[in-house]
Amino acid sequence: MNGHAHSRRTVLTTGAAVAGAALGTAALASCSGGGPGQGGQSQPAPKGARLAGLDEVPIGTARPVTTPDGHKIIISRRSENEVAGFSAVCTHQGCTVAPEPEQLRCPCHNSLFDKFTGAVRGGPADAPLRPINVAIEGDDIVTA
Ligand code: FES
Repeated sequence: MNGHAHSRRTVLTTGAAVAGAALGTAALASCSGGGPGQGGQSQPAPKGARLAGLDEVPIGTARPVTTPDGHKIIISRRSENEVAGFSAVCTHQGCTVAPEPEQLRCPCHNSLFDKFTGAVRGGPADAPLRPINVAIEGDDIVTA
């Protein structure tokens, strides 16, 4: 008898289970569909990472914070629900800028930056601080 037994195939379970269970799933973008279309901004932390409590950044002020992955940034609050974020790395030679009541100042050569826009206001730096996307989420300011 030379009957062909049905050759049974062993079903191999392929490892498709490595789906990215992202750590930060909190950030829900409200704009689905269209691409964000923002070039040139690299985020230092996953979206939704808490940077500070809202009450730690009173309206009209800026505050230095360190992101969970160790980047120094400045967050500022222009109004009740308007926040902005910038890399604290001076665009002149890379020192760390610090908030003053009226602006951000680099201690190395006195470059000045607008605390709400990151624009250069004076000094040797000729490029604005790199923007960091931040947002208000509940009572916190988070990366966005
Ligand atoms: Fe900031 Fe020179 S490094 S002003």
